[in-house]
Parts: sequence; structure tokens; C-alpha cells
Amino acid sequence: MNILVTGGAGYVGSHAARLLAAAGHEVWIYDNLSLGHRAAVADGRLVEGELGNGELIEQVLRDNSIDAVMHFAALTQVAESVADPARYYRNNVLGAISLLEAMRCANVRRFVFSSTTATYGVPETIPITEKEPQQPINPYGYTKLVIENVLADYASAYGFAYAALRYFNAAGAHPDGDLGEDHDPETHLIPILLQIALGQRDQITIFGNDYPTADGTCVRDYVHVDDLAQAHLLALDHLREGQGLKLNLGTGRGNSVLEVVEACRRVTGCQIPVVEGDRREGDPPILVADASLAGELLGWTPHYNEIQQIIETAWNWHRSHPQGYQE
Ligand code: UFG
Repeated sequence: MNILVTGGAGYVGSHAARLLAAAGHEVWIYDNLSLGHRAAVADGRLVEGELGNGELIEQVLRDNSIDAVMHFAALTQVAESVADPARYYRNNVLGAISLLEAMRCANVRRFVFSSTTATYGVPETIPITEKEPQQPINPYGYTKLVIENVLADYASAYGFAYAALRYFNAAGAHPDGDLGEDHDPETHLIPILLQIALGQRDQITIFGNDYPTADGTCVRDYVHVDDLAQAHLLALDHLREGQGLKLNLGTGRGNSVLEVVEACRRVTGCQIPVVEGDRREGDPPILVADASLAGELLGWTPHYNEIQQIIETAWNWHRSHPQGYQE
């Protein structure tokens, strides 16, 4: 297929684009490079543009006979979304709708959407199935839920075929060592721990040690970025006109913050000093996926099931790219 990947110069998008190309698809990347990296895009098929530029997107869709769109371009920081919700609604909601409208005009109706566990808010049941009520607790989660709802309406009214893939905590890096996680500023747990191991930071603050978990720190389901990418590929084959797939993507295993710290110490052989701090606003205590539906419907099973394996790939990237992509 001919596939347009928005945000294909970003973390998850670049891994998906790489996998799509390896599977024989023709891939075009659409990215404004505000958060993405030119160096993460393998060949010359990068179109620089804003999500809001519907005219340009429509032209790219028509000129390249695009069959399907994978939409990764989004802002993803919970705290930032609380501080500046307008920016999040503008980019993640208006931007996505502008993209969908360009698709409608160009008669492209296959869509794979990066959704998130943040649409569940604080879940009532662990592990989380897709039946869990979606009650976001921050603007970021709302922006993703709005688009899931828009997609359901576009499917029934306009025959769109879509998959909303609800990622748990994306982590790790491409096993080849040339694609990885490079955010500025970095706020995510694993890259911060690895930056300490590289001597780029002194210590990490653990956000809360009084949660109702075994060691008092938050539990998350860390899922390898290549496993996420693989699910996008499989989803593409399961899109059906007028229908939506809504699937959790996680390993089904939870690791506490302290367990992740320990695993990073093991992988890097470095001490990694920690200090205990207050809870971070908006952090649910436990987020672990029941991803059995993705297994049943797509045949998806994560290849990386142990946190240590995931961290090893991340460490491989950080060690060889201590300053990230260096553009
Ligand atoms: N953490 C710390 N100290 C830090 C950074 C993180 O203790 O310096 C903790 C967090 O409190 C959390 C865990 O490590 O318990 C993981 O935090 P991340 O920031 O790496 O990831 P989040 O779980 O906050 O975020 C992820 C995605 C978001 C998504 C969110 C949904 O990156 O896009 O899950 O909850 F919205």
C-alpha cells in the first residue's frame, strides 16, 4: 500500500515507518519537525508541513495515490496539556480533524490512530480491558478521546475504516540502534534513568512512594516501540469499511518505578541515585493492559515481554547517541 505517516519523524512514528517500508509498503512521512527529527526519516520521502494545512495534505494524498494514513503527529505530555490545554486541543483535535477532512476530500478512508491509556483516566479494574469506561483526567487524554469519537462518527457516516490503538507506556528503541527516543525536554522515566547512567544528570526524583502498590511507587506497563509498530502493521490488514477497532497495546505486565530503576541499574551497571519526591499530579497508581483483544483480532503478541530486554534496546540507543539525533 501507499501509506502516509504523520509524525513519522517522531519516536513511535519513525519505528512504524521503518517497519512499513521493510514490509514492502511505500511510505511518505508528513511532519513539521517541531518534535520529530529529520535523521529519523530514512529516505527522501519527507513532506514538511503543518497538520492544519489541509490543502497540502490533500495534495500529498492525491499526488501519491495514498491508500491509508497512520496518524502519530501529536503532543503527548500530560503536564504540558494541563498547563496549556489550548495548544493540545488545537494540535491534537483541530489538527487531526483537518487531516481527516483532507482525507475525506481525497477519498482516502483508512486510518490508524495513536490513542492512549490516558483516555481511561484512573481505571476501576486492573488489568484494563477495552470495556473500561473512558474518563480522562487531563486535557491530553480528552484530546485523544475526542478523536476516537470523531472516528466512530466518520466510520458510520462516511465509511471510514479505522483502528484506535491505545498505547500503554511506549519504551525501548530499534534493535539496530539507529532509531530511538529523543525528546527535548525529556520527561519519561527510562530515558531519564539512562541519562543519569551516562552522567548527563545527577539523580532522579521518584514521584510518590505512598501509592497502593507493593513498593509504594506507580506501576506501568512498558511496551516496546517496535511491538507497537508491529501492531500498526497488523491493524492495517484488519481495517473494514465503516468499522472501528479499538485496542489496548501493552504487555500485560506491570513494573513499578523502583523496579524500573533496578532494571536500569542492572543493564547499565551504574548506581543511578534516586531521591523521593511528591506525587506528580495526574498519575494514576497502576496502568496495566489486558491486550488479549489485540491478540485475538490481530494476532498481535509483544515480542519484548521483560522490562530488562526493553531497557537493553534503549540503552543501546542512548549509549551510541548520547546527544540524541544531533541535528
Ligand atoms: N516518573 C518518576 N520520575 C520521573 C519521571 C517519571 O517517578 O522523573 C514516574 C511517573 O510518576 C510514572 C512513571 O515514572 O509513574 C512513568 O512516567 P513517564 O513520564 O515515563 O510516563 P507516563 O506514565 O506519565 O506517561 C505515559 C505516556 C503519556 C500517557 C501516559 C498515560 O508517555 O503519553 O502514559 O498515563 F499519556
